[in-house]
Amino acid sequence: MGRTLLSLVGLLFLSCHASITGAKKGVTVEAKGAKLHAKYRDPKQPIDVRIQDLLGKMTLEEKVGQMAQLERQNLTADIIKNYFIGSILSGGGSSPKKNANVEDWVDMVNNFQNAALLTRLGIPMIYGIDAVHGHNNVVNATIFPHNVGLGVTRDPLLVKKIGAATALEVRATGIPYAFAPCIAICRDPRWGRCYESYSEDHVIVQEMTQIIEGLQGEVKTDMKGMPYVLGKKKVAACAKHYVGDGGTVKGINENNTIVDQAGLFGTHMPAYLNSLAKGVATIMASYSSINGVKMHANRDLLTGFLKEKLGFKGFIISDWEGIDRITYPPHSNYTYSIQASILAGVDMVMIPYNYTEFINGLIDLVKKNVIPMSRIDDAVTRILRVKFATGLFENPLVDYSLINKVGCMKHRTLAREAVRKSLVLLKNGKPGKPPVLPLPKNANKILVAGTHSHNLGYQCGGWTIEWQGVSGNNWTAAGTTILNAIKATVDKSTQVTYRKNPGKNFFKKNNFDYAIVVVGEVPYAETRGDSQNLTIPDPGPNIIQNACKAIKCVVVLISGRPVVIEPYLDTMDALVAAWLPGSEGQGVSDVLFGDYGFTGKLARTWFKRPDQLPMNHGDPNYDPLFPFGFGLETKPTTQHNKRIEL
Ligand SMILES: *[C@@H]1O[C@H](CO)[C@@H](O)[C@H](O)[C@H]1NC(C)=O
Ligand SMILES: *[C@@H]1O[C@H](CO)[C@@H](O)[C@H](O)[C@H]1NC(C)=O
Ligand SMILES: *[C@@H]1O[C@H](CO)[C@@H](O)[C@H](O)[C@H]1NC(C)=O
Ligand SMILES: *[C@@H]1O[C@H](CO)[C@@H](O)[C@H](O)[C@H]1NC(C)=O
Ligand SMILES: *[C@@H]1O[C@H](CO)[C@@H](O)[C@H](O)[C@H]1NC(C)=O
Ligand SMILES: *[C@@H]1O[C@H](CO)[C@@H](O)[C@H](O)[C@H]1NC(C)=O
Ligand SMILES: *[C@@H]1O[C@H](CO)[C@@H](O)[C@H](O)[C@H]1NC(C)=O
Repeated sequence: MGRTLLSLVGLLFLSCHASITGAKKGVTVEAKGAKLHAKYRDPKQPIDVRIQDLLGKMTLEEKVGQMAQLERQNLTADIIKNYFIGSILSGGGSSPKKNANVEDWVDMVNNFQNAALLTRLGIPMIYGIDAVHGHNNVVNATIFPHNVGLGVTRDPLLVKKIGAATALEVRATGIPYAFAPCIAICRDPRWGRCYESYSEDHVIVQEMTQIIEGLQGEVKTDMKGMPYVLGKKKVAACAKHYVGDGGTVKGINENNTIVDQAGLFGTHMPAYLNSLAKGVATIMASYSSINGVKMHANRDLLTGFLKEKLGFKGFIISDWEGIDRITYPPHSNYTYSIQASILAGVDMVMIPYNYTEFINGLIDLVKKNVIPMSRIDDAVTRILRVKFATGLFENPLVDYSLINKVGCMKHRTLAREAVRKSLVLLKNGKPGKPPVLPLPKNANKILVAGTHSHNLGYQCGGWTIEWQGVSGNNWTAAGTTILNAIKATVDKSTQVTYRKNPGKNFFKKNNFDYAIVVVGEVPYAETRGDSQNLTIPDPGPNIIQNACKAIKCVVVLISGRPVVIEPYLDTMDALVAAWLPGSEGQGVSDVLFGDYGFTGKLARTWFKRPDQLPMNHGDPNYDPLFPFGFGLETKPTTQHNKRIEL
């Protein structure tokens, strides 16, 4: 059955509309006996009644299990059953097996869920994953531009559609919970997570919280902090990382954010209010500190402000080993970590491996009255509320019916549109010379050069297949490199030559009409991506200089943030910031060759030298290379095919 289904999926791969009757594999376990008649099982009862009924039946062990989130690796059905595990996650790059297909994901989630359903009360577990630019752990999923590019689009409706597409692809693999969106206000590009931030400007980030409505479903009224997830094609979202993650000293990951009240509540906090209004189901605490207080232990901001003042009714989840890092060195006093985080208001802990240490430790602290039962009940109430809101009690198991949504053409077309709108044209022609963009499609001979011109892994950046990202094209059959996109765009008569790293002498013996040079940063994620120098790694600068000194050149820069570019700018004929565009490289050539115009405006300040940082628009002594909001425009030159704007 499985194989036949898979080949059928292969045939239908490009269609979002065809539907396949779901396989019923694994959909066998039913809660048994008295609990079938329990009030909490009755969907007609109000959620609060169901929660109270269920909570009243739970032992301390069952409650503490709900607060535990474990990584899937080495996790067994026995662990889930014996410890009443409430939640499971895939860490960055963690998949059921190498090259797992969509069925493998569905089967894995169902297997874990069946174990959870076999516990005494049959409380379903909730599976979560970092789907931060599409369903990025999954081979052949649509990879959307990272948030740094989406901020450039200034198009919250587009971003909402991306949320809906992502939700569908995530649900297709059986997963009801995404650790997204990141609503950091990145104030310093030296931070390696800056590409996860839409903008240095909190208003843009606030607008982009519309992605929550795409992920969870559209709300009609202000949800005032009540979790809202609309049906089986939507997922619970997670606004992260609360709060001030993008404001740390020198952009050092997980470090200290030094702010006054105006900075905290005027810059870093507002997007959380928008998220609560949209019914965001969960919020993740930040590793970072506010004025020296670790956010995972910050009772004033977690409980006092978020839960009591703003009325947040979903759950607060820790980051990966987030409570361990309350102490220095991390994990040096885990008992204290449990105590400080749970008392501060963390409801679910992303442990992620040593569950006995957490579960026994927390039970012990409750028995010793260090942590009151009322705090445990509050945490479990919130977790159950999200599970009820997500419909997990009614639909704990998944079938294969959405399998063909993963990487489907409709989503790829949406991603391609997002790529077009996320490009920023920073230079177009040398002083006194005519613009070089849009490029003619009918040149005789062109060169496509650079480390990033034919590398989907580089194009997608970190949080793609692996936590820190991948290199090359062999990890997916889907997607278009910029080189292949250019080849598909120019006239048949145009000769396209590709060189990853052409030497200085290469240009003399070839008479190219022009070169498109694609270079940039190599993939990175948390911590490893922090950079104090923000240089383009070798051989990028040499490739730019060799090409641009020899012939007319258009540089396309792939990066998660502004980087040092001023020293090379004069030699270039044109410069395009493409950020981390994702799998649909065709969006880049759509605009380079004039099928569409450049429209993107910087959502970040482009510095001249890193010693100017932090520097954000509105600062005194603002002296950027390109200011926030900058972006040249071009007009489309050709009548483009309307069909690609579905
Ligand atoms: C999972 O099990 C394998 C094999 O025993 C081991 O090498 C690996 O370290 C384990 N992983 C974790 C996270 O415990
Ligand atoms: C990815 O898609 C290609 C082309 O449809 C297919 O051959 C391959 O098996 C897919 N890989 C996975 C892991 O689904
Ligand atoms: C910030 O980084 C510095 C330098 O690495 C380190 O000494 C300090 O402990 C960090 N502070 C926090 C709050 O993480
Ligand atoms: C760990 O923290 C607890 C609570 O603050 C404290 O009582 C205990 O002495 C600490 N243990 C160590 C080994 O530092
Ligand atoms: C888990 O924590 C317990 C208690 O601190 C410790 O004894 C055990 O070795 C840990 N297990 C692993 C796999 O780290
Ligand atoms: C892709 O290529 C890299 C080296 O270029 C190799 O390490 C990796 O195993 C390959 N992956 C697949 C899925 O073939
Ligand atoms: C810039 O910083 C990165 C990351 O810290 C480092 O790997 C690289 O060597 C540095 N480059 C230069 C030219 O100093």
